[in-house]
Amino acid sequence: MRISSKTALTAVVVLVFSCTVLCGCTGNQERRIIRIGHNQSTNHPSHIGLTAFREFINDELGDRYVVEVYPSELLGSQTDMVQLTQTGAIDFCIASNAILETFSKNYSIFNLPYLFSSQEAYHAAMEDSILTEQIFMSTKNAGFTTVTWLDAGTRNFYTINKPILSPADLKGLKIRVQQSPTNIEMMRLLGGSATPMGFGEVYTSLQSGIIDGAENNELALRDNGHGDVCKYYSYDMHQMIPDLLIGNNTFLEELSEDERMIFERGFAILNETQRRAWIEGVEDSIRNAKENQGVTFLYPDTKPFQDAVLPLHASVLSQLPELQTVYDMIQEYNKQYDKGDSEEGAGT
Ligand code: GCU
Repeated sequence: MRISSKTALTAVVVLVFSCTVLCGCTGNQERRIIRIGHNQSTNHPSHIGLTAFREFINDELGDRYVVEVYPSELLGSQTDMVQLTQTGAIDFCIASNAILETFSKNYSIFNLPYLFSSQEAYHAAMEDSILTEQIFMSTKNAGFTTVTWLDAGTRNFYTINKPILSPADLKGLKIRVQQSPTNIEMMRLLGGSATPMGFGEVYTSLQSGIIDGAENNELALRDNGHGDVCKYYSYDMHQMIPDLLIGNNTFLEELSEDERMIFERGFAILNETQRRAWIEGVEDSIRNAKENQGVTFLYPDTKPFQDAVLPLHASVLSQLPELQTVYDMIQEYNKQYDKGDSEEGAGT
């Protein structure tokens, strides 16, 4: 669902919060409602992961807390939800690393195209808390921190009716990108015309021809209906951008030590459940796109795409030299997991 106006959004938020007062009481005991927002459908692996998290917290701490999950942009766009998390109006939300770049420049590193040489290198880097700490804690003064990462696969171009086999095919096309300076610059280097907008607006913009295509993982074809409109999906594999669960700092700091340990276990359950569901979700989306949506999958040579955008690595690092160590650690993982044999989705 897309929130079409601020008024509608305000109405939903007011409704949610007045419900909180009603739902927050069991007998005489008040339970604290924990609100988590995200922008995916209820079929999506992240929603499945959050459902496991909710059940775990309700089992372990159900006398004190009630977890409520709001999917499908019910609480607004990702940017709206990050702001609600910042102020503590909600406690957590899932945000793409891409949009967090506007809250702290440190996040721009994970938005770099072709940063990881394989899915294994990407997962190993994201699991390395020494590597991620500098990024995940960098919004501490802004009121939130990242508590776990979630897989968001590999991003590829897809278009209504023009197969993309090389960067030259992007010329003159209006391609929706996430609202991040790195993504806009990436599209410029590739020769397409970047059209930044929120995720919830993409389907209508494709349908009405405002844009010619977009770029995302395969789940957008199924869960967001993009495969109903776009008939060519090209595995140029330009980015692996994680999604992140961010939490309001005041809420996190007020947890007792024991509660925090239980929440940490809950975050791990979310991460593991989401990643298992991801594999199945991608397979099903590809099958559905081929059988029911008539989408053709293409496998271009990725080298020309890589050559066009690699200068972005040096330019981001020259603006943010403090990220060099993190970048070097990622290169070590790239060497260790060089082959990329199991590149997600591609070839399946
Ligand atoms: C993916 C990602 C979302 C993001 C979306 C987008 O679906 O999981 O977090 O919002 O891409 O392109 O905006």
